[in-house]
Amino acid sequence: MNKITDLSQLTSRQVMQDAPVIPVIVLHDVAHAVPLARALLAGGVRMLEVTLRTPQALACMEAIARDVPEAVVGAGTVRSAQDAQAAAMAGARFVVSPGYTHPVGRACKDLGLPLLPGVASGTEIMMAQEDGFAELKFFPAMQAGGTAMLKAWAGPFGDVSFCPTGGVTLQNAPELLALPNVLCVGGSWLVPADAMAQGDWARITQLARDTLALKKR
Ligand code: 3PG
Repeated sequence: MNKITDLSQLTSRQVMQDAPVIPVIVLHDVAHAVPLARALLAGGVRMLEVTLRTPQALACMEAIARDVPEAVVGAGTVRSAQDAQAAAMAGARFVVSPGYTHPVGRACKDLGLPLLPGVASGTEIMMAQEDGFAELKFFPAMQAGGTAMLKAWAGPFGDVSFCPTGGVTLQNAPELLALPNVLCVGGSWLVPADAMAQGDWARITQLARDTLALKKR
């Protein structure tokens, strides 16, 4: 996949097309944030979704935004307008949400942040589309129907693109990426908790590198 060079007016589509995989990151220690971002970047992955699941998440985003400017830090697990505002203050440049609500959509528009809203049903896709979002996260993808679901959605929602996330692995990613309505996948397998705890950044770089062999066909 070709790297996009001009990221000054970042769009959801650019977030999805930069690499075949967006890593879903859970950070418990601010000291891990910068080495992790550098390790992923060294492996060719620069769109980094830091989830708002730990008390340290915002400080981690700030550290990455400040110290690793070549990376593009985004906020995941955004569930409210307040989450989106806090993420923007911390330097997030895109937002990913596990579900969709109008207030989250509105907040991201007001903040000028691209949003990948999470959907798992036709109704949710229609709600997100109604608010102008056509690049969506399918979550939890493998638990909610995986490839078969994406193929079924391609008919009525042919103008929507997805980033399936949840249960995606290096093994099942190729069949997802082969679908015309899938632009990238998301997953936590690039950032194993034990590798982070051990400071095994080389392993994380290798895991990132492995994902680049996955190609959007
Ligand atoms: C997410 O948080 O978006 C998903 O839970 C990531 O799912 P995974 O851990 O199965 O990759």
